[in-house]
Amino acid sequence: MKKFMKRFAKKWCAALSCACVLSAASVTLAEEREHKPLKWWQTTSVYQIYPRSFADTTGDGFGDIPGIIRHLDYLRRLGAGAIWLTPVYPSPMVDNGYDISDYTAIDPLYGTMEDFDRLVAEAKKRDIRIVMDLVFNHSSDKNAWFQESKKSRTNPKADWYIWRDAKPDGSEPTNWRSIFGDSAWTWCEERGQYYLHTFAPQQPDLNWENPEVRRALYDAAIFWLDKGVGGFRIDAIPYIKKPAFRDGVPDGEDGLVSIHAMTANTPGILAFLHEFKKEVFAGRDIFTVGEANGVQPKDLPRWVGEDGVFDMVFEFGHMNLSLKNGEIWCRPTEWKLTELKAAINATQEATRENGWCPVFFENHDQPRCVDHFFPEGADREKAAKAMATILLTLRGTPFIYEGQELGFSNVAWPSIGDYNDISSRGQYEIALNEGFSPKEAMKFVHFFSRDNARTPMQWNTGDNAGFTTGKPWLPVHDDYAVQNGEVEMWDENSVFSWYRQLVEFRRSHPALRAGSYQELLPNDEQIFAFARTVSSYQLVTVVNFSLEPAKIPEEIIAGKTLVMDSEGPGETAILRPLEARIYQAVR
Ligand code: NOJ
Repeated sequence: MKKFMKRFAKKWCAALSCACVLSAASVTLAEEREHKPLKWWQTTSVYQIYPRSFADTTGDGFGDIPGIIRHLDYLRRLGAGAIWLTPVYPSPMVDNGYDISDYTAIDPLYGTMEDFDRLVAEAKKRDIRIVMDLVFNHSSDKNAWFQESKKSRTNPKADWYIWRDAKPDGSEPTNWRSIFGDSAWTWCEERGQYYLHTFAPQQPDLNWENPEVRRALYDAAIFWLDKGVGGFRIDAIPYIKKPAFRDGVPDGEDGLVSIHAMTANTPGILAFLHEFKKEVFAGRDIFTVGEANGVQPKDLPRWVGEDGVFDMVFEFGHMNLSLKNGEIWCRPTEWKLTELKAAINATQEATRENGWCPVFFENHDQPRCVDHFFPEGADREKAAKAMATILLTLRGTPFIYEGQELGFSNVAWPSIGDYNDISSRGQYEIALNEGFSPKEAMKFVHFFSRDNARTPMQWNTGDNAGFTTGKPWLPVHDDYAVQNGEVEMWDENSVFSWYRQLVEFRRSHPALRAGSYQELLPNDEQIFAFARTVSSYQLVTVVNFSLEPAKIPEEIIAGKTLVMDSEGPGETAILRPLEARIYQAVR
């Protein structure tokens, strides 16, 4: 009986979504004519690749650029119009590429510049553009610029980084804690000074006050534009403007204060960014998305849109709900569904009139969304479909992080020594300093570790999930036999197939392409609901985030037709646990 129901549900879902796609497609142009023309990056989705973990063609255990080329058809199948590549530049890999030693070359670990050019060309054939990650707040300490800068106070590059004298007692210039833990200042014997690093000591911050530094960075970005890339994700951008170097009130047992609290998004930053836009991005058919932890929805009108500096920014209100007490992992906060909805609503509202936003629930720094946003014990597959439904029906450009489309979940390795992520190791130490036991500290690592998102891509049921023929740099998640690209691609009921249906639906439905967004049920602690409306079309998304059935208030679905359902047909007004539905009204 169960089997029969399952088969029935599958057919029903496919038929529904097909019917809907057809009727929607015939009105797309007419509906959109009433609205501002959309740019290419507003009508597609972006797929984020962590190259180290995507596909290895050499057997060295690290993913590489030829591995990405090998899987371009998979990405096309998923409907991606752009690939955001996390850094592939030469790097000592202290922070897996976010410590760049040469801004205009490719790290041999990933391949050659010819491989990169081939990737751009092969992607273009499939209507996919490559988006590069610009890491301009800091470089690697092995970068030739820093190697020069540290030599002496009179070197031509002396002022390319942020150097300060010690306090009279020899201690650090301020009591700021870097994001990865410990002081944000490191002593350099050669210069007899401290240098500042928002992240690891091997990631010294560049001095944006120096026009030569800014020019060198702009030229590096233009180098990649000349290669035909389709845009940039701009790393850690709120930290480029440093305020006065003053001590802050300590926020931890170590007597330090988070550098984030002291330097993120401080006055004067937008002047730098307007120059960056004018010199590099303006007038080009590309998109820019700034990583802007610390930028609030209220700031968005000055950051995005025609008068802003970027096309979109990743703003983290909805991702940081468990970290309301600052970015220290061992102080997680409880949060409610109403807070998640309020955070998302704030971003949607702030970009409603003149702006656009990325929609994202995962990236290479975050836990997997099925573990992040749902109650413990939630069925992974249902949760993944529920989140996908929100991701692909909100207003904005959806960003899908590798493996999210297959429903990947977190790992939980026994000891801190099993983790590669520099941040996990730093946070583990912080937890011990704060008085937690090693066992408790590991719990925080299990939830927050960035390695959750960095385990190798699972392509098939073969050795190492088809990721490598060698020893993978990070262990493959042990669920790969059931969760992998090959199995899910052919299962019409899989998370992957649900993504494909949603992507297709989004591409063709006028309300999802051009519709405005309206929040529904802001006070409901079980259901996430919103509407998208354009002209005479309205779609309503309703998702049950709880493990209990939830009754949909009659008023939001009255007179509407159910067009997609993650669980197959159910009792009309009752959402089953983790069920996601889309209703349509033609007015
Ligand atoms: C944000 C990146 O996403 C993260 O992975 C990196 O560690 C820091 N910025 C430093 O570049």
